[in-house]
Amino acid sequence: MDYKFNNLHNGGNIMTSPLDKFYKKSINERIESLMSAGFIEHEHISNFKQSFSLPEGVSNHMVENVVGTYQLPLGLGMNFLINSKDYLVPMATEEPSVIAAASFGAKTVRAGGGFTTTQEKRWMIGQVILKNVEDPEAMKEKVLAHYDDLVERAHAAHPSIVKRGGGVKDIDVRIIESNPEEHTPEFFVVHLYVDTKEAMGANIVNTMAEAIKDALEIITGGTALMGILSNYATEALVTASFRLDPSLLSRSGLEGTEVRDRIVEASQIASVDPYRAVTHNKGIMNGVEAAVLATGNDTRATSAGIHAYASQSGQYRSLSKYYVDEHGYLVGTLTIPLAIGTVGGSISIHPGAQFTQHILGDPDAKTLAGIVCAVGLAQNFSALRALVTDGIQRGHMALQAKSLAMTAGAVGVEIDVISRKLRRSQPMNLTQAEALLEEYRNQS
Ligand code: MEV
Repeated sequence: MDYKFNNLHNGGNIMTSPLDKFYKKSINERIESLMSAGFIEHEHISNFKQSFSLPEGVSNHMVENVVGTYQLPLGLGMNFLINSKDYLVPMATEEPSVIAAASFGAKTVRAGGGFTTTQEKRWMIGQVILKNVEDPEAMKEKVLAHYDDLVERAHAAHPSIVKRGGGVKDIDVRIIESNPEEHTPEFFVVHLYVDTKEAMGANIVNTMAEAIKDALEIITGGTALMGILSNYATEALVTASFRLDPSLLSRSGLEGTEVRDRIVEASQIASVDPYRAVTHNKGIMNGVEAAVLATGNDTRATSAGIHAYASQSGQYRSLSKYYVDEHGYLVGTLTIPLAIGTVGGSISIHPGAQFTQHILGDPDAKTLAGIVCAVGLAQNFSALRALVTDGIQRGHMALQAKSLAMTAGAVGVEIDVISRKLRRSQPMNLTQAEALLEEYRNQS
C-alpha cells in the first residue's frame, strides 16, 4: 500500500479527506474512515480489534509466568507529512493529550511542507569485552590484522543475515583505561559493527559477539568477560527536521515571530539546564516511545540509548534544537540513535505489531526510524509551543476531566456527561467528579 493518501485526498488535504475530524468520530467510524482513506483493506474491518489482541497461545510463549495481558490504548497520530509522504502513526500510550499534541504539531509542520528525515547508516554495535590484555596498543593492531578471520567467524555464526545482504561492516577496538578512583581495571573492548538489515538485530549481534570471544582470547592473550549488543546505537542516528514560516506560529494574541523566538529560548534553556532538559526530552519520548511500542519494538533499548546520547557532551542536554534561519523561519531538528526494526523479535509474533506496520505502509527499518523521530519532534514542538504561550494545562483540561470522571467511576455515556459538567464547575478534582456522578445517577 503505497501512499495513496495524496491520490485519495485532494492533493493530501486532510481537511477534505475521510479522516477529517477523526477525533470526533466513534471508534467504528474511525475504522471505516481508515478503510475509505485506503489505510486498511476491507477484510480488516470485521476483525480489526482482534488484530490487536494477543492470543493466549502467543502471549504465553512470549514471556514467562503469563497470567494475562496488560493493554494500553492505541491511537493514531494524524497529519504526518514526512519526506513528502503521508502517514498515520500508530501510538500506544497511557498518557492523555500525547496523541492530540503530536497530531497538532504535525498539522502545523505539514502546513510548512512537512518533516524531512535521514538515517544514513544503520549499524548495530556488538561488544566483546576483554580484560588482562597485555600491551593493548599492540593487541589492537593484532586484532585488526585478524579482521577477515573475525568477520568470517561472526558470519558463520549467523549466515542468514549475510544472505540477506547484511553482516559485519567494520571492527574497531577501544581501550578503556583503568581508573583508580573508580577502582576499575583496564578493559579492551572490541566493537563489531553489523548491518542487521530489517531486524533490530539484538539476537544477530549477540550471536556474532559471542562467536568471536574465543578467537579474541587467543589473539590478545586476554580473558573475555562478555559478548553483547550495545544499546548505545551511535551508528544508527536518525534526524528529523522542519522549517516553518513564523506566520504559522501565531497563537493566543502573540505574533508568530514572538512565539518563534520563545520556542528558541525554550530550546536554549533545555540545552544548558539538565533539570529542564530531562522534562524537555521526556516530552520527546512521549512520542518516540508510543510509536516504538506500537510498532512492536523495544522501548527500553531505545530509551536507554537515547538518554545516553543526550549526555554525550558530559552533561545531560536537550535532544532537539530550534533556531531561526537567515529567512527568519523557525527550524526544528531532532537527532537520536534509533535501533528499531520491521521484522524479528515480537514484531513477527504480535499480530498488533504487524497491523500497525501495515497502517504505516509496511516501511523499511530506516523509514520507520524516520517516522518515529518525526513523531518525537512533533511532540516536542507542540509541547514547547504550548508551554511558551498558553501553558499546557489549558489544553489538558478536557482530557483531565475525562480521566477524573473515569476515576470517579463514570462508565459509558456518563464519562462525557460528567467530564463536560466538570469542566464547567470548579474546582476540577476527584471529589467534585464523584459528587457530580452521584447527582447525575440520582437524577437519571
Ligand atoms: C508532559 O508529558 C511532557 C511535557 O512536560 C514536555 C515538556 O515540558 O517539554 C509537556
